[in-house]
Amino acid sequence: MSLDKCQIIHLPRINDPRGNLTFVEAGRHIPFSIQRVYYLYDVPGGAERGGHAHKELHQLIIAMSGSFDIHLDDGRSKKSVHMNRSYYGLYVCPMIWREIDNFSSGAVCMVLASNYYDEADYYRDYHQFIDVVKGNAG
Ligand code: TYD
Repeated sequence: MSLDKCQIIHLPRINDPRGNLTFVEAGRHIPFSIQRVYYLYDVPGGAERGGHAHKELHQLIIAMSGSFDIHLDDGRSKKSVHMNRSYYGLYVCPMIWREIDNFSSGAVCMVLASNYYDEADYYRDYHQFIDVVKGNAG
């Protein structure tokens, strides 16, 4: 159910011989307001990022340069997406376990997030996340 909400969003592209331009408008292209932007870069070959879920955070993940794979899991089903265009964003809703790997050389992964960094918003233990999703948390 939640995984169905996690879709690739085709962002606007202004093609120009001087170089292309893409923009993101909160509330118009993505269903949340942007409170934070962070990015992963200089990722060594073979490294894996993510490995957590967020309780309430909404995110849009964009391959600003290069490519990588995002693996999503809502505790019921899974899907993987190859990101390699800076005009595509992957919307990730709350309560989705995500892992990111297969970074190409020079890849830059930019994340637009709906709130400030808050460690209390993370599930970093997969089994704990699954227990909560399946309603087994005590
Ligand atoms: P983490 O979210 O685990 O990174 P990733 O999902 O990319 O693998 O964060 C790694 C570290 O960076 C962790 O110690 C928390 C810190 N951090 C911040 O201080 N602010 C932020 O906005 C983010 C995303 C992480």
